[in-house]
Amino acid sequence: MNICMIGTGYVGLVSGTCFADLGNKVFCVDKDKEKIKNLNLGISPIYEPGLDELIKKNYNVGRLKFSNNLKEAVTKSELIFICVGTPNKVNSKQVDLSYVFKAVKEVAKVAKNKKIIITKSTVPVGTGDLIDKILIKLRKKNIDVISNPEFLREGEAIRDFRFPDRIVIGSNKKIYFKILKKLYQPLINKGAKFFTTSRRGSELIKYASNAFLATKITFINELANLCEKADINVEDISLGMGSDKRIGSRFLRAGPAYGGSCFPKDTKGLVSTGEKYNSELSIVKTVIKSNENRKKLHLNRIKKILISLKKKKIAFLGVTFKPNTDDMRDSVSLKIIPYLCKNGAFVSYYDPTGAKKDFKKLKNCKFYDNINKTCKNADLIILHTEWDEFKSLEFNRIVKNKNYKIFDLRNLYNFNEMKNKKIKYFSIGRPNVN
Ligand code: UDX
Repeated sequence: MNICMIGTGYVGLVSGTCFADLGNKVFCVDKDKEKIKNLNLGISPIYEPGLDELIKKNYNVGRLKFSNNLKEAVTKSELIFICVGTPNKVNSKQVDLSYVFKAVKEVAKVAKNKKIIITKSTVPVGTGDLIDKILIKLRKKNIDVISNPEFLREGEAIRDFRFPDRIVIGSNKKIYFKILKKLYQPLINKGAKFFTTSRRGSELIKYASNAFLATKITFINELANLCEKADINVEDISLGMGSDKRIGSRFLRAGPAYGGSCFPKDTKGLVSTGEKYNSELSIVKTVIKSNENRKKLHLNRIKKILISLKKKKIAFLGVTFKPNTDDMRDSVSLKIIPYLCKNGAFVSYYDPTGAKKDFKKLKNCKFYDNINKTCKNADLIILHTEWDEFKSLEFNRIVKNKNYKIFDLRNLYNFNEMKNKKIKYFSIGRPNVN
């Protein structure tokens, strides 16, 4: 099939490349000239394991094209995927759909024959209906709109595309299920569930899934707080609960607080949809509040561990919101590092994806390009992101300061090992080693 992906951000670039790898001809278009120029030179705008190789492979055989020419891409494609950003409006829970509507209008302007617009960006319930209204106003009867949300995790996106649990298609016209089934047949053959529903149903499934996962994480994070006080290991609770198939073991890892481009945005987006339909979503509201409060709990814990922050040397291992991505969006480090610096601490940090512009203007904050230099004189090491390269560190060799402490926000290290090595070790939802 010939496919046009509008927007070469995370969703459009990964999905477009993977569609090309299934044998389709894919046109990835973006307004950003620099981005397209770089992509044509083989430089990807995002860090995603395996993506560069896959882009190169499909680009070289001509199945994957990058351009600013929307007209050509739309004219040559049957399926037009909208993959533009849907951020929250400034200081609001509401989703900004202006990029989606702009893309739709541009497609409408150049589309001569029959086209299918597919919203892959996360869009609130009723967005398909609003797009319909735009198309009716523009007298574009040749264009139909359906929904096909993405469920890709950063850092695992290619695997998630190739082996999805389910493919969700939302349309009020059955004919489109057939067309989309054909597109996804190679994945269905490998076991993916092909699930069809109404367009609004599909739009809600995406928000409901993300909000539910965020709830699961927040639930275990609150239990971790209780475990710390009641001298219980939260990992046993995750295992004990997760073995019940009705609950499931995934997304029950206690940690710093969920972050990233989706959970914080989509939980707020769902609450806003609830408000629009006058339907109270009290659980999701509480999840948002609890996740935000959690960051303050860490600040208090750090102050308690160090007694005073003044002139303390604090080393951060990892600053991205999760490993295998360079994404800083809603990362907990964005709350903790500036606070520590403002309160008199010296922060050194290392992340495998390099220095971050978010910390550039901070006084007393320095990036080092290796772990040893970052931790050398630390009073406290904060393990923030669970990158593989942090898993087997010999802290007693790396750190010069004899009284150093570790605060492990991901429970990456073995509790008993830390005890045996006499390291002052603090983690999440587990007893302290003092
Ligand atoms: C998420 C969804 O998983 C994906 O389906 C959707 O399309 C986009 O949003 P992503 O944000 O890339 O993906 O990362 P994910 O692995 O889901 O983690 C989100 C956040 O939750 C991270 O901050 C992560 O550290 C945290 N998390 C995840 C936990 O704290 N505990 C867990 O058990 C799992």
